Amino acid sequence: MGRKFLVGGNWKMNASKALVDTLVGSLNTASWNPDLIEVVIAPPAPYLDLVRSKVKKEVAVSAQNIYFEKKGAFTGEISSEFLKDLGITWTIIGHSERREIFKESDEVTAKKVAYALAEGLNVIACVGEKLEEREANQTTAVVFRQLKAIADVLKPEDWDRVVIAYEPVWAIGTGKVASPQQAQDVHAEIRSWLTANVSESVAHATRILYGGSVGAKNSGDLQSQEDIDGFLIGGASLTASSSSRRSCRL
Ligand code: G3H
Repeated sequence: MGRKFLVGGNWKMNASKALVDTLVGSLNTASWNPDLIEVVIAPPAPYLDLVRSKVKKEVAVSAQNIYFEKKGAFTGEISSEFLKDLGITWTIIGHSERREIFKESDEVTAKKVAYALAEGLNVIACVGEKLEEREANQTTAVVFRQLKAIADVLKPEDWDRVVIAYEPVWAIGTGKVASPQQAQDVHAEIRSWLTANVSESVAHATRILYGGSVGAKNSGDLQSQEDIDGFLIGGASLTASSSSRRSCRL
């Protein structure tokens, strides 16, 4: 069976009750074939419950991060227990903003991915290189290092609930999208890495999303690439008429 296209909306630290009404209202009136397209939205943690209660069931709701402990003295952190209690079935882990701003290492990222999976959540695990790394021809070295940290802590069956998001840091929020060929090249490298280091079947089945300035103008060309199985959309997921949804044929 082919890989189901996944459209993820990462709201980052942007929300209000009014914005929830607008964005959820727009999603609730949109239609798409759920056999072909999966939609996951990731509002900030304080809005997860509200979004889950309002958005239609075809839309899955995701946290943007979790911690790797159930409960206790971890001020400000988000437990997988909270998510399960609220009917939240996904979490993003290892977004470049977590890695860069909050200094989350490959090891911490991997530990969170393994923990989230053990708790029954689905995970969007993010990887991607910085501009200076790309310019130094280090793109695959960086992406493979990030992937290896994650793969090392996963069991074969865990991969059913993992989606990889390739997000070149230089393309995030910059309007400077990777060309379809640049994105396809890295996606194909990731799939080859999975074949060589995990298994052929995992490489074939695992969805690899592209993230970084995806919008109406570029999503069609990106979507047509063989190894691009969806998008993780930031800025463009915050507009109700979402051009990205239109161009993703939702
Ligand atoms: O998680 C989403 C990515 O960071 C992409 O964000 O679409 O605003 O560039 P962006």
